[in-house]
Amino acid sequence: MSTTESTPTHVAIVMDGNGRWARARGLPRAAGHRQGAEALRRTIVGAGELGIRYLTLFGFSSENWNRPSGEVQDLMGLLRHYLRSEIADLHAKGARLRVIGDRGRFDPDIVALIANAEDLTRGNDRLNLTLAISYGGRDEIITAVRTLSADAAAGRIDPQAIDASAFADRLFTADLPDPDVVIRTSGEKRLSNFLLWQSAYAELVFVDKYWPDFGKADLEDAVHEFKRRERRYGAVG
Ligand code: IPE
Ligand code: MG
Repeated sequence: MSTTESTPTHVAIVMDGNGRWARARGLPRAAGHRQGAEALRRTIVGAGELGIRYLTLFGFSSENWNRPSGEVQDLMGLLRHYLRSEIADLHAKGARLRVIGDRGRFDPDIVALIANAEDLTRGNDRLNLTLAISYGGRDEIITAVRTLSADAAAGRIDPQAIDASAFADRLFTADLPDPDVVIRTSGEKRLSNFLLWQSAYAELVFVDKYWPDFGKADLEDAVHEFKRRERRYGAVG
């Protein structure tokens, strides 16, 4: 059996289980989210050490806006804090930050913090860190379809020339490679609207741990699992 041998270029993670981690300890959900932010830091450092070039993390879905407003505020507070306190360090480490998702729903100060962080780190490429926040895969696809339709209606693209590459170029992830591995923590085995188009050939790795307990060793295990699997892309092995 041929295996891939090499380290995955792009690892994407659904960070799940903060609330259950907290409940198991009799703590408020916000405590789980705070520990989740620590796991995020560890994972970013671990990815750099393992030679992973692209790391994409799903932290907040378009559906998560429907959570109780106190929890949404806690999560937005964490995001604000993260963008203020971590960006200089990420920049120093040569990381480029991107945020994918619907920014229209963020408070204006968060929109500005994201734009500043993206501008500051635009020239870096040691680690490409992408946060999917207020993100939904179907929304992303619909947005791309709208752009393509407008381009076709305006005569900028011939409908017959629309192919996978023309489509992918209009997704939020236009300048990212497809993920090689998608990891989900907390034992749930779903994609939950994450990178639907981009994950077509990703290896899926499900980890039973809750996100706040995730660390470099778990990332390394997922990389080993990826290397062990045979990827055929629909061809014969
Ligand atoms: C993951 O933890 C982080 C977010 C989606 C914000 P959850 O908040 O989904 O935690 P559970 O799934 O309720 O345990
Ligand atoms: Mg969850």
